[in-house]
Amino acid sequence: MANKNSNLQSAKNIKDDEFYTTYETIESEVSHYVRHFAGKTVLCNCDDPFESNFCKYFLKNFNVLKLHRLICTSYGASAVVGTQINLFDDTHQNLKRGAGYVLDVTKFSDAVGEISDGAIAYFLQTSNVIKKLDGNGDFRSAECIEYLKISDIVVTNPPFSLFKEIVTEIMRYHKKFLIIGNQNAITYKEIFPLIQNNEVWTGYRFGEMKFRVPEYSMPRKYRYWVDESGQKWRSLGNAMWLTNLDNDRRHEYVTMTKTYNSEDYPKYDNYDAINVRTIREIPCDYYGIMGVPITIINKYNSEQFEIVGEANHGSDNEFDLFKPTIKGKEIFKRILIRRKIQ
Ligand SMILES: C[S@@+](CC[C@H](N)C(=O)[O-])C[C@H]1O[C@@H](n2cnc3c(N)ncnc32)[C@H](O)[C@@H]1O
Repeated sequence: MANKNSNLQSAKNIKDDEFYTTYETIESEVSHYVRHFAGKTVLCNCDDPFESNFCKYFLKNFNVLKLHRLICTSYGASAVVGTQINLFDDTHQNLKRGAGYVLDVTKFSDAVGEISDGAIAYFLQTSNVIKKLDGNGDFRSAECIEYLKISDIVVTNPPFSLFKEIVTEIMRYHKKFLIIGNQNAITYKEIFPLIQNNEVWTGYRFGEMKFRVPEYSMPRKYRYWVDESGQKWRSLGNAMWLTNLDNDRRHEYVTMTKTYNSEDYPKYDNYDAINVRTIREIPCDYYGIMGVPITIINKYNSEQFEIVGEANHGSDNEFDLFKPTIKGKEIFKRILIRRKIQ
């Protein structure tokens, strides 16, 4: 029984990993980082050649972004391999499920501006730029790590269940990245210290994101729909981009219009910090520790504040300093910040 349950659980986890990003989600985010891409090698390492909008976006915008090289590795178990366009690898075999592939492109068009879909499709079908990998394209495999080593910027939407692993791997090789994750990851012990130490930060879109999901996805009551073409969709209310590419967002100052008083800003029962209900209510004249909603991370400016820790259960990890309660009433998880004296 235990085995059956754990099989069911892992099947559920696999399904919840398959969220396919829209072109618009990628385009609107990358537009804030154009200056970082010139002359760079981009790696999309949780992808499918062409079916992925990451791959499609970077092919279309190869010249706009002045890329040096684009490498997309696909994972053998992907649910969408071969569903949109019939592609061939360099041995002229049809792409098939179960195998990992790599698409590896340097300059491929003289077009000024975006490259047309037709030109991309023709190029992909005639230029032998897709090769079968030895393994299944797992981003942790030795051959995929070799691609990581020669890349400058990783851009992808990894399986949420492997989010900490991919961030840890990218940081280990000192690479830049722009990846999609779930906001829950902010307080993971592998991610939180990177944010605290200003090594990584959030991008622009933070919250709502919609994703195509595979045909086998089960209907859900909320945040699920099927469009007129029969494509299934899900949306998340707590998605985010996480990056270590500098952006303007992280240099914007939080405007503080409120002043401190002990009634509106009660202290926690068990820790010397005040509770601040919303980011707009951060008082301009308080320099002690403040517990603020976790969404502060998307407004966080490290010139203005420092992150002291988090308050969730008080035991999740070394950064989780206490369980927040006020007069015995539990408060939802908080990030603990302190103003910097400027
Ligand atoms: C959330 S989906 C996103 C797909 C695509 N990047 C996109 O955004 O449309 C995650 C992708 O990672 C693939 N994947 C799962 N485990 C992987 C692994 N260990 N290494 C590389 N890719 C993996 C899945 O098959 C799936 O295609």
